[in-house]
Amino acid sequence: MAVYYLRIFLLFLLTFKTGFSAEISVFVQTGDSVQLDIQTQKLPEFDLLTWRNDKSENVVKYISETKVVKPLNSYKDRVDFNDTTFSLTLKNMQKTDSGLYTAIASGDSENNIATYRVSVIDAVEAPVLTVNSNWSSSDSCTVIFTCRAHDLMINSSYQNNRCIAQEVTSQINTLNLNCNEESIICNHSNPVSWKKDRINITPLCVNNKENNSSDIKTEPPFQLWTYILGAVCLFGGIAL
Ligand SMILES: *[C@@H]1O[C@H](CO)[C@@H](O)[C@H](O)[C@H]1NC(C)=O
Ligand SMILES: *[C@@H]1O[C@H](CO)[C@@H](O)[C@H](O)[C@H]1NC(C)=O
Ligand SMILES: *[C@@H]1O[C@H](CO)[C@@H](O)[C@H](O)[C@H]1NC(C)=O
Ligand SMILES: *[C@@H]1O[C@H](CO)[C@@H](O)[C@H](O)[C@H]1NC(C)=O
Repeated sequence: MAVYYLRIFLLFLLTFKTGFSAEISVFVQTGDSVQLDIQTQKLPEFDLLTWRNDKSENVVKYISETKVVKPLNSYKDRVDFNDTTFSLTLKNMQKTDSGLYTAIASGDSENNIATYRVSVIDAVEAPVLTVNSNWSSSDSCTVIFTCRAHDLMINSSYQNNRCIAQEVTSQINTLNLNCNEESIICNHSNPVSWKKDRINITPLCVNNKENNSSDIKTEPPFQLWTYILGAVCLFGGIAL
């Protein structure tokens, strides 16, 4: 609890000292755009507003008096600056663009008005579900399977129309396993994307299905009784 209050206090100090902004973490998929907004409602008066990366390069400079926007040459073709909201849009993000981005309003003093920790990551690779073994009887079916993706793995089994939902994670990746009556579903995800693999249960539980339909085949004895009854009557008729 004490630590929590200390953190709040530190955050307050930071906010107070810099005019604003706690670091916000954002994930962007490689090739996508990201829009970074300023994080303060009441912008202090300023002459110059700068969006800066962690190489201390000024990605965009905006001079308030002339309303001139100056993007850095290396960002020229893939940056948008909105001179109403002062937000910065970076396009076609690559992994090397990961890092800290800050917005600074300079006038009589310098105020940090936004801080973003940008992480550019690839979409996840698709998970792969494989069946290790399957067996079925008239009233039950069991399937043993594995789901793999990257360095994550889940072993599990399907029984009585269900399996135990499971989830494993490593860093920012999550592998999630779930089943319903028809299928086993494995979902691999990270903060920017997800992909799934699915296995249909029906073909794996063949005996189970066959025996379900054999309920209908248990009816012939009734027909047999009518034959027997008929035969008895006929025999009785002949005998008389
Ligand atoms: C700036 O942002 C405002 C509010 O989102 C929007 O209405 C306006 O069209 C934007 N201007 C430019 C040049 O993108
Ligand atoms: C196991 O699955 C295969 C299909 O992959 C199926 O041909 C076989 O009949 C199944 N075995 C049982 C006992 O259900
Ligand atoms: C899953 O099973 C395989 C072999 O069947 C084994 O090598 C692996 O360690 C198991 N993984 C987990 C996470 O239990
Ligand atoms: C897979 O996981 C992601 C992230 O948790 C979620 O948004 C998505 O809906 C899931 N997809 C399925 C098919 O469950």
